[in-house]
Amino acid sequence: MISIKNLKKSYGDNLVFENVSAEINRGDVIVIIGPSGCGKSTLIRCLNLLEQPDSGEIIIDGVDITKKDAGIDRVRQKMGMVYQSFNLFSHKTILENVILAPVNIFKIPKKQAIAEAFKYLKMVGIANRADYMPDQLSGGQKQRAAIARCLAMRPEIILFDEPTSALDPTMVDEVLSVIRKLTKSGMTCVIVTHEMNFAKNIASMIFYMDEKGIYEKGTPEAIFNNPQREKTRAFINKLKVLEYASQIIDIDIYEFVRMLTDYCQKYDLTKQEKDNINLVIEELIVYITAGARQTDRIAITVRYNENTGEKEIYLRYTAPDGNIIENESFDEISRRLIKGFTNEISYTRDDNVNVLKLVMKSADGKS
Ligand SMILES: Nc1ncnc2c1ncn2[C@@H]1O[C@H](COP(=O)(O)OP(=O)(O)OP(=O)(O)O)[C@@H](O)[C@H]1O
Ligand SMILES: [Mg+2]
Repeated sequence: MISIKNLKKSYGDNLVFENVSAEINRGDVIVIIGPSGCGKSTLIRCLNLLEQPDSGEIIIDGVDITKKDAGIDRVRQKMGMVYQSFNLFSHKTILENVILAPVNIFKIPKKQAIAEAFKYLKMVGIANRADYMPDQLSGGQKQRAAIARCLAMRPEIILFDEPTSALDPTMVDEVLSVIRKLTKSGMTCVIVTHEMNFAKNIASMIFYMDEKGIYEKGTPEAIFNNPQREKTRAFINKLKVLEYASQIIDIDIYEFVRMLTDYCQKYDLTKQEKDNINLVIEELIVYITAGARQTDRIAITVRYNENTGEKEIYLRYTAPDGNIIENESFDEISRRLIKGFTNEISYTRDDNVNVLKLVMKSADGKS
């Protein structure tokens, strides 16, 4: 459907990418990931000629669209684009936004355009907001309206540039599930996203961009479970870290729980997983606090590897000494509880600081 050959783009002296080649087939769901500034947006903007590439070819159904006579309008008609910031017309209702292009550009009779618009608004779940102004909708609803507007142009392929990154976290899922529905219906999509779980579940192919090009591409299994190249590996295994440090006697456990809750929500950990981590830490803190001196300090680190799902807790504390879990005075019920929730407990002492590392069992009982 689309062949990209040796595409190159720079802004002045700044080379964004070169030697980008890829095939996109009908029904593919291509997800582009990579560090900030690596050129993900620039690449998809080149695909629909919002940016003119320096050299290379983009061949769609046999026509090289980078050539002057290819007809930009025809290209744009085939490719819908959904932006991070919705780009709805703020002085028009949702329905007016959706029928605008069909009526004015494609000359579809208004009545028919409205009927079709409702079909798409229903599909994204906001038919009951047709007469609202964009400002009267939540971010998630606005983005779903933008998707309906895009669908109304009957594109053959939809390009998404971080469709959920401007949203309140509570609204990310509703937009992702609309996109999932679209891909299931067979729509060809190219999606730039930082939502790794989503990428993993939805993509037919992942492009990892880095080092001024597509650095590695492969199926989600290959990229997430067995990345071949160093930078991909570092990016994929990037650990999500929560850190809390305090003087032990001043420890604010409520503040910590709040941070842990935010953290778990942000990285899609379940309530059960959060509760287990919380419980293990609280049991240990109670003991550590009881024996603390005025100057003792503690640092709590929770590390979550989004790739493997592994969750580790590190407690670094200056008192009391030793592997407290094995201390005789440590409560037996607490000890059993902690062991029940963990696969591995190890203790080291480093420069007068006790380091207790615990690897959590996954909350469904498997390790
Ligand atoms: N219109 C522009 N003019 C000049 N330089 C630009 C322009 N757009 C992007 N760039 C530069 O091109 C490079 C790639 O930017 P791009 O926005 O494509 O990255 P990205 O991978 O989408 O990043 P992010 O994840 O932050 O959205 C950056 O160095 C950026 O500063
Ligand atoms: Mg971008």
